[in-house]
Amino acid sequence: MLKDKQVIFVGGKGGVGKSTSSAAIALTFANQNLKTLIISTDPAHNLGDIFHKKINHDKTKLQDNLWGIEIDAAKESKRYIDEVKSNLEGLVKSRMVEEVHRQIDMASATPGAEEAALFDRLISIIIDESKEFDKIIFDTAPTGHTIRLLTLPELMNVWIDGMIERRQKTNENYTQLLNDGEPVEDPIYEILQKRKNKFEAVRKIVLDQKLTGFAFVLNPERLPILETEHAIKQLKQHDILVENLIINKVIPSHADGTFLSQRKEQEKKYLQEIDKVFNKQNKIRIPLLEEDVSSFDALKTFSTYMEPLVEEEL
Ligand SMILES: Nc1ncnc2c1ncn2[C@@H]1O[C@H](COP(=O)(O)OP(=O)(O)OP(=O)(O)O)[C@@H](O)[C@H]1O
Ligand SMILES: [Mg+2]
Repeated sequence: MLKDKQVIFVGGKGGVGKSTSSAAIALTFANQNLKTLIISTDPAHNLGDIFHKKINHDKTKLQDNLWGIEIDAAKESKRYIDEVKSNLEGLVKSRMVEEVHRQIDMASATPGAEEAALFDRLISIIIDESKEFDKIIFDTAPTGHTIRLLTLPELMNVWIDGMIERRQKTNENYTQLLNDGEPVEDPIYEILQKRKNKFEAVRKIVLDQKLTGFAFVLNPERLPILETEHAIKQLKQHDILVENLIINKVIPSHADGTFLSQRKEQEKKYLQEIDKVFNKQNKIRIPLLEEDVSSFDALKTFSTYMEPLVEEEL
């Protein structure tokens, strides 16, 4: 169950209720006196709107036991690039520095650079904050993006392994040729090795089912069902199991009128399909509320429906 996990990723198609669900999960944990951190990795943040507070790039206190972070991909990218540059200082000859910086700046403008930087921050948060927080909740960007982010450690490892191997060969050659068989010191090799260790540490956490949980939010409609099915399959290929589904915006039983009863008929079909397709997952249903979940009271109401997933057993 989700309540036992320390790190929780909330995913799903655009607009289904990921941010609202993440906020509700985080609020429930915080109210159980668990030190909780909620992080938005979506470039179109709205955690700040939900909690009516400006959430920073660094930890911002939202209430007792609850902190939030909105990762700013552009800022993160700059920070990342600066770090790469400073890592290289002393490694390249000074007359080369300008050229190397120019190349790095060019690389930082390519697509995927912001994503890589965002991912780097995400990794640091998981590694550093899991020591301090009982619960870390990630409100992720719509499905495709999330999957790529979560499967990156695997891809990165393959890539870094290749680099390390090549570097090792070069070093061996130098050792033979220049150093009379003495191993050469190589800071670049060390940086690569450090990154590899960091990725591996995160992979270990993300794949540890005792530690990390995944919840997908969907609405009882055709496209969210298809997309969720696809996402769950893809993640499974990377050994990530999505065990929880939050079926949001279900038309409540007390909704009246012919229009709504027709919609309810159609919805019934989709709810049955969800039960059939996702027969292995824990599922909870959250009704469509009369208004958007934009006040703290509305969030509290919304949270009560989240209880089966996150409430302590009595
Ligand atoms: N059960 C509900 N009843 C009524 N309104 C809801 C419900 N769940 C979510 N909403 C509203 O639907 C809108 C979308 O929700 P939310 O922002 O949580 O979705 P999201 O999946 O995070 O979207 P995005 O993909 O844009 O990040 C918000 O205005 C929210 O208040
Ligand atoms: Mg959102």
